[in-house]
Amino acid sequence: MKFFIDTANLDQIKEAQELGVLDGVTTNPSLMAKEGITGRENIINHYKKICEIVDGDVSAEVIATDFDGIVKEGEELAKLHKQIVVKVPMIKEGIKAIKYFSDKGIRTNCTLVFSAGQALLAAKAGATYVSPFIGRLDDISTDGLNLIADIRLIYDNYGFETQILAASVRHSMHILECAKIGADVMTGPLSSIEGLLNHPLTDSGLAKFLADYNKGN
Ligand code: E4P
Repeated sequence: MKFFIDTANLDQIKEAQELGVLDGVTTNPSLMAKEGITGRENIINHYKKICEIVDGDVSAEVIATDFDGIVKEGEELAKLHKQIVVKVPMIKEGIKAIKYFSDKGIRTNCTLVFSAGQALLAAKAGATYVSPFIGRLDDISTDGLNLIADIRLIYDNYGFETQILAASVRHSMHILECAKIGADVMTGPLSSIEGLLNHPLTDSGLAKFLADYNKGN
């Protein structure tokens, strides 16, 4: 399972990279705005900085919603760095653009996916990644993990190569459940990854080992 961090915060991206388990980064316009990164030039420069920190894929989202606009923006983003994956919304024009990018060998992440039907379309169009938002489904009393399981079943039925990128992950249990279901990738905050570290028996066990060692020294 690949671990992506879902942020545009460079310090957090560096911290995750230093942990040694980071496979990539996802961003979106809201995450950019949260870091005060606005305006096309600043956003482009920020993507370049992220690519310098991490070794893996970096999703960069288009703003256009018409086919020509998505293609123009996506081609510009893809040229920025070989690690860039063009993030395209799950809309009719987006699906057409994903098919276009797929034919051209440009990698894509189909975002804002909330149903298995949408995920099926994204795979048919040749998306590299599909991003079902599990946390946002949980927020409206709909089990986001069921969606991951449905997409896994459908993709396995037909051997689709589109990778399931469980997005809108909010905590460590989301990661574990997605791993059990077989999501290919998860993206979430650093806290959700670091939460996997924690166990009270590890803490008490280590404290005892150190105390016993110190008795003899
Ligand atoms: C996906 O790539 C999105 O950036 C993201 O996971 C959205 O998460 P949120 O629902 O916590 O905003």
